[in-house]
Amino acid sequence: MMMRAMTQGDVDAVLVIEQAVQRFPWTRGNFTDALHSGYLCCVDETEEGGIRGYAILMPVVGEAELLNIGVAAAQQRKGLGRAMLAEMLNVARGRNMKRVFLEVRSSNVAAIALYRSAGFSQIGERRGYYRNEEGSEDALVMACELAGEANG
Ligand SMILES: CC(C)(COP(=O)(O)OP(=O)(O)OC[C@H]1O[C@@H](n2cnc3c(N)ncnc32)[C@H](O)[C@@H]1OP(=O)(O)O)[C@@H](O)C(=O)NCCC(=O)NCCS
Repeated sequence: MMMRAMTQGDVDAVLVIEQAVQRFPWTRGNFTDALHSGYLCCVDETEEGGIRGYAILMPVVGEAELLNIGVAAAQQRKGLGRAMLAEMLNVARGRNMKRVFLEVRSSNVAAIALYRSAGFSQIGERRGYYRNEEGSEDALVMACELAGEANG
């Protein structure tokens, strides 16, 4: 895995993946806004220069929220999502963030399993938070405590 900062030039490739793997994909504007807002936007790039995955972390006073993570369909279930998430947590830890939290659709079993295996646990839920084909669905709020690990 080789992660680097996402640039505006990556957005086309990231959007192709996003539109293929997310039921309710982010728009180009969402990615551009994230880049301009100084969020931590990273891509995983192969040696040949292809993008396989991406993740976006928003710093919020001493904590961070994982806003998005995606892996190209053909590259899923090979450990890339877990490796990218671990890297994002390391970066957050390196910036002395105490906690990373996120919201996830209650139907997204793959993401929930990934987050649990990375040390996240559920701290709440938001009823009807996301729209979906049936109207709405709940969000699980999950958090991973970082304090006291790598930085002591
Ligand atoms: C969620 C996602 C990023 C996982 O990426 P990945 O590279 O396939 O994940 P990994 O191979 O690292 O898997 C890590 C763990 O996640 C869980 N997992 C991943 N895919 C799963 C699936 N389809 N079903 C159940 N559990 C799954 C498993 O616990 C897995 O560990 P295991 O392979 O040892 O059983 C990927 O499925 C994806 O891009 N989904 C669409 C976008 C999305 O929903 N993002 C999250 C919300 S923004």
